[in-house]
Amino acid sequence: MIQTPYYLIDKSKLLQNMEKIAKLRELSGARALLALKCFATWSVFDLMREYMDGTTSSSLNEVRLGHERFGKETHAYSVAYADYEIDEVVSHADKIIFNTIGQLQRFEKQSSGIVRGLRLNPGVSSSSFDLADPARPFSRLGEWDMAKVEPVMDMISGFMIHNNCENGDFDLFDKMLGQIEEKFSPLLKKADWVSLGGGIHFTGDNYPLTKFAERLKRFSGEFGVQVYLEPGEASITRSTTLEVTVLDKLYNGKDLVVVDSSIEAHMLDLLIYRESAKVHPNQGPHRYMVCGKSCLAGDIFGEFDFENELNVGDRISIQDTAGYTMVKKNWFNGVKMPAIAIRELDGSIRTVREFSYADYEQSLS
Ligand SMILES: Cc1ncc(COP(=O)(O)O)c(C=O)c1O
Repeated sequence: MIQTPYYLIDKSKLLQNMEKIAKLRELSGARALLALKCFATWSVFDLMREYMDGTTSSSLNEVRLGHERFGKETHAYSVAYADYEIDEVVSHADKIIFNTIGQLQRFEKQSSGIVRGLRLNPGVSSSSFDLADPARPFSRLGEWDMAKVEPVMDMISGFMIHNNCENGDFDLFDKMLGQIEEKFSPLLKKADWVSLGGGIHFTGDNYPLTKFAERLKRFSGEFGVQVYLEPGEASITRSTTLEVTVLDKLYNGKDLVVVDSSIEAHMLDLLIYRESAKVHPNQGPHRYMVCGKSCLAGDIFGEFDFENELNVGDRISIQDTAGYTMVKKNWFNGVKMPAIAIRELDGSIRTVREFSYADYEQSLS
């Protein structure tokens, strides 16, 4: 038995998402790039590479990882590049997408050898969180004024538009794409390629994949563009668990258990967006509040129902823990960093990374 805590990536579950992505690519002609900001655990890139076209990035480190560990098409994007990193970024990318006209002009010379694009902000999004809404008022994410973009069209050949956030509603996607078409039509007609970003939950159960593919194909045909998607969450959803062990039990008006992990350190997004973790099947007569072991009072995974009473030493599998977890984990409280393990297609499990005191020490100085 592997020592907890550890993230366990199940390749057979990952494969289910990959097969949907492959089907979408085939039906729509769109290309799919893994968004490394969401998931960058390169030990499973060998599998993902078979089904996806490459990666997209949000920094020099990500573009380098994408180039070196994934290969295939490598898109570079960042909210802002620094002078000291641009040459290296360009060396790893086959396309660079600038967030603003200012950055495009500033790095015109350095980026002249690769395909260039610009991020557009359509002013509409599907986000229900202000924090994650790219179209929020005064957003810095992309250009929105067509009159300013027109004059730089000779420097770019495409656009990136990311305005879907956790969107499992095809009709909403369709409506927003219609708004994009209406707003940016003259620019889109001049483009060779358009990336529609991530945030579309097309690998979920019951998502109308064929309708989605037809819509992408129509968009591509109407404007004569190669469509790209940048699925993060959709690529890895439901593929991974965080395996933890109960360290302590107490009753403070509710039954609580403390586990050997921390939501603050290992699943930070749940805390940021005030969401509960998931446990399956979450049924049974024994309800517990599952708490993390950091000192943060609100370090709580959630309240769940269990078939049996929980005791010290019992293991719990926190579900759906691939996205925005391993890329965001931190050393708060010096809590033991979860190892990373993979369940191979034949069912065997191998640990691909363990973290030690030396890693903690070396993260500081
Ligand atoms: C530009 C861009 N592309 C892709 C993604 C991936 O989104 P998701 O993981 O929701 O699919 C994001 C997420 O923030 C993004 O900002």
